[in-house]
Amino acid sequence: MMTEGYRRHGMVLLTALLLGMAADVATRSGAHAQSAPDKLAYGKHLSQECTTCHRRDGADKGIPSIIGLKEDFFVTTMKFYQTGARTNQTMNSVAQALNEEQLQALAAYFATLKSEAQAGKSTKGKK
Ligand code: HEC
Repeated sequence: MMTEGYRRHGMVLLTALLLGMAADVATRSGAHAQSAPDKLAYGKHLSQECTTCHRRDGADKGIPSIIGLKEDFFVTTMKFYQTGARTNQTMNSVAQALNEEQLQALAAYFATLKSEAQAGKSTKGKK
């Protein structure tokens, strides 16, 4: 009985540890205002606004893929849109609606994603 319970607890700990490691890799170069898992969850939530145009699978059908972009490139690019240094009507208004925290969360989240091309056949069949 004791052993069984201990083993289950161990599994939970291991899962938490793995999630933590993945999040850490993703946010290593970012600011750390939020704890990493919260930040990624927030980024995922916010990304729904983006993936209506930027495909979740990383395919470029006229709109550039933003899957797996490096965090600093992502943030810099979005700041160009915010300030108008880079002009695109859609992205200027999308970027201007985001605050710093949201930008960081999105950067962290998209950096963790892999396009199907990068991931190879493992995601074949998924949408
Ligand atoms: C209505 C469609 C649309 C939505 C929604 C949208 N984008 Fe974009 N995005 C575009 C288009 C079109 C471009 C290419 C613009 C250009 O040429 O500068 C672009 C470009 C970008 C780029 C630059 C990519 C590169 O390789 O230079 C980034 C980063 C980006 N978008 C992030 C986002 C994020 C983050 C969101 C959600 C908060 C978002 N976009 C929502 C249409 C959209």
